[in-house]
Amino acid sequence: MSRLIDGKVISAAVKERVKNEVSQLNEKGITVGLAVIIVGEDPASKIYVANKKKACEALGIISEEYALPESTTEKELLGLIDTLNAKKSINGILCQLPLPRHLDEKRIINAISPEKDVDAFHPVNVGRIMIGDYDFVPCTPAGIMEMLAYENIETEGKRCVVIGRSNIVGKPMAMLLLHKNGTVTICHSKTRNLKEICLGADILVAAVGKAKFVTADMVKEGAVVIDVGMNRENGRLCGDVDFEAVKDKASAITPVPGGVGPMTIAMLMQNTLTAAKRQNGIG
Ligand code: GUN
Repeated sequence: MSRLIDGKVISAAVKERVKNEVSQLNEKGITVGLAVIIVGEDPASKIYVANKKKACEALGIISEEYALPESTTEKELLGLIDTLNAKKSINGILCQLPLPRHLDEKRIINAISPEKDVDAFHPVNVGRIMIGDYDFVPCTPAGIMEMLAYENIETEGKRCVVIGRSNIVGKPMAMLLLHKNGTVTICHSKTRNLKEICLGADILVAAVGKAKFVTADMVKEGAVVIDVGMNRENGRLCGDVDFEAVKDKASAITPVPGGVGPMTIAMLMQNTLTAAKRQNGIG
């Protein structure tokens, strides 16, 4: 059995660090505030938003929830974002995705002030990640880098393979590993020789969205395996990695649940703290 990378333990450490810093800011009279917008009734989104609110409360971050009806127009949503962009007590703005189909996701994301874009979805923040000069990193890749650092897993000179090229996970993940001097390959649905490429990986990140996609024959002995998957299989949460088969080959592996998942909210809290510090001219 390989070493288990425990997202619950590492996210608790991140949250503790954020909580202490928030408390120090509060002593200086500075508050930290996050606005979370949710449009419509998607049950999964409602749970995510409730969890974000709970995390804020536990860390001393002020949270404002804007639960808007499905019928909300783009003009109304853009109006709310404008108000929150200008609101001093709000340091971070997050609009829960997916949005109802009549709302243009790109236009909404672009309306959030880059200084308050704690998801790091705005093109300005995406570009800043590309050039390696960034404050905010999307929460999932940020959480993975935090896990690697916590576990003292060296990336420099390592062969890193990221399966998945989404804007939220795959692409920023690849850039962060590159900034840490990894030799990075991004694989996707059109990749040829996927198995051979994965077998060359010292660090393998699976962000595919298909249950048990990564099988033991794709993993090199001693590789570090990071599973971003959140798939439902027979009602159970299941990762992109065939955990039972891969765990004996990998030197370290993240489980699902309890791996990357718990890191994402912790990193959102971290981004919100960073936003508050920057907006107050600190750090
Ligand atoms: N929906 C699922 N994950 C996320 C996320 O990280 N941010 C936002 N805004 N919406 C999401």
